[in-house]
Amino acid sequence: MSESIVWRCPSNIALVKYWGKKENQVPCNASLSMTLQNAFTEMRLRRESKKKTGIELTYYFEGGRNAGFEQRILQYLERHIACFPVLKQYAVQIHSQNSFPHSTGIASSASAFGALVLALLSASGYEEDNFMQRASYLSRLASGSACRSIYPDYALWGQLDGVTASSNDYAIAVEEVHESFLDMRDAILVVDDEPKKVSSSAGHQLMKDHWYARRRFQQADNHCLNMLNVLKTGDFIQFVSIIEREALALHAMMMTSEVYYLLIKPGTIHSIEAIMQFRKESGIPVCFTLDAGPNVHVLYSGGDEEKVNTFLKTELAPGLKGIIYDRIGKGPQKMES
Ligand code: PMV
Repeated sequence: MSESIVWRCPSNIALVKYWGKKENQVPCNASLSMTLQNAFTEMRLRRESKKKTGIELTYYFEGGRNAGFEQRILQYLERHIACFPVLKQYAVQIHSQNSFPHSTGIASSASAFGALVLALLSASGYEEDNFMQRASYLSRLASGSACRSIYPDYALWGQLDGVTASSNDYAIAVEEVHESFLDMRDAILVVDDEPKKVSSSAGHQLMKDHWYARRRFQQADNHCLNMLNVLKTGDFIQFVSIIEREALALHAMMMTSEVYYLLIKPGTIHSIEAIMQFRKESGIPVCFTLDAGPNVHVLYSGGDEEKVNTFLKTELAPGLKGIIYDRIGKGPQKMES
């Protein structure tokens, strides 16, 4: 007997960035993200009826074995096996695939660990009312920002004074969102598709004794509070200004850490300047954000899609490796197996 469970989990893009952590992915500041729709990991978990002692897991990524990621998964599962009873009774096979290419500025660990935890919880027969919160908690332990991918639209992760239910342990859904922020687009400008030069883990570590760490963490918490208000009221001007300041603050931290490094490329700066210029000339509230890499996420409203896409195609596409069009999404989905 073998039984399959399939979950699809999207990636997310941080509007307010998580950068700096303590033990076990406890964040040094709160962060807030938008869940994507088209960029997702789909994971099929098959349990075989075979009793055993240790964890028996085989991981296939897009048809082939992926020893590196399998190891990372195993390390995580060995620490948290008590949370996934299925692993105590069955050997499991996992087949995973991404809807988006690697190294293009879309966080694949967020979607992959989100999908993994959702599939394992389902396969373990976990049916409590707090299923999503539990999935957020467990995926945070695997890869911090994954905990935000569990919710539709916008998610907040990190304890914030005055925000009931906010927690460092898991993300929560942002409930009060003005309708004009529920139809957002994210076009990812692929400036460079080389694998990351510096891992996020190394970057988080460098915040430990960073000269600006204390003020940066305060700034991010403050941006989260302001962003919650902006999302509620529909204030596009503030939306743009918080998001761009956050993107530049993240990279400023990298450029000013003890071991300093630079992930942005000439193409990143060219795109940023063109977006700012286009915003000024058109009056359209379009803005950019950056993850820990050179690729640029362009955020804008669905109502401005035609004009912004024409601008991106004509002005920017010729100098890029590609553009990936995504939008705000409704969160993870259990699929027919
Ligand atoms: O979840 P990690 O450890 O891959 O860190 C993510 C860090 C950023 O993507 C740069 C910011 C964020 O909040 O997603």
